[in-house]
Amino acid sequence: MDTGRVVLVGAGPGDPDLLTVKAVRAIMDAEVVVYDRLVSDEVLALIPESAAKINVGKQAGYHPVPQDEINALLIKLARSGRSVVRLKGGDPFIFGRGSEEAAELARAKIPYEVVPGITSAQGCAASARVPLTHRGLASSVRYVTGHCKSDGPLNLDWRSLADPQTTLVVYMGLANVEEIAAALISHGMPADTPALAVCQGTTPRERRVCAPLCALATVSRSARFEGPVLFIIGHVATLAAEYNGNAYDEIMEEIVVMA
Ligand SMILES: C[S@@+](CC[C@H](N)C(=O)[O-])C[C@H]1O[C@@H](n2cnc3c(N)ncnc32)[C@H](O)[C@@H]1O
Repeated sequence: MDTGRVVLVGAGPGDPDLLTVKAVRAIMDAEVVVYDRLVSDEVLALIPESAAKINVGKQAGYHPVPQDEINALLIKLARSGRSVVRLKGGDPFIFGRGSEEAAELARAKIPYEVVPGITSAQGCAASARVPLTHRGLASSVRYVTGHCKSDGPLNLDWRSLADPQTTLVVYMGLANVEEIAAALISHGMPADTPALAVCQGTTPRERRVCAPLCALATVSRSARFEGPVLFIIGHVATLAAEYNGNAYDEIMEEIVVMA
């Protein structure tokens, strides 16, 4: 029997219209689709009836299928001659462990391909109409994880992250948002740096809040977000649809009064 192949496909942040043409073709041609918790229902609805669907969804601190079992499953399916799509939220190679799966496939000599996806930073920023770089506001952008392996302490280079000329995008940061904001401020990022939190970006369930960095944790907790949340911290957040006039200015006023 010929060995099958695995295509690691980026499903994007949720809106199925943000899938690449190549991703849609791979999904249409798949015999088996192995997918994650972050893949939206709208994208899952594109999987043909003829394909088997395997949910290996993971949640923070709760991993129904351990990573090594996912790796073994992909190898087993490919060795049985199947054409497999491994569908992962956003881009498979940005905080998605796609690279670990690719390394295991390479080790097992399974032919594989990578189809990039729109990462949630790009999807959420576009949805809020926030440019991640903007002349005079941000000359660089950094993507960081706000969650460490085995829930350990965050070991980030706070001094360099606190650069006011950089847009900082924090993935998986909700659980540690207090620590993240406090560390940035204590390493020199101004407390009134604008910040945006986006939950379930690009889906019909998207919610966003704006706040100065010093109030980001409180505002994000009060929002009672359900689903993945991304933080965009930096001057570009002033260009968010929400920024002008309302919520942000009220919060700033409150802080000035409190101080
Ligand atoms: C394990 S990482 C995977 C990132 C993914 N590979 C990507 O490129 O977007 C999961 C984190 O991505 C972010 N995320 C993914 N989809 C999102 C969405 N639709 N809205 C907001 N944040 C999202 C959240 O920060 C979430 O905790």
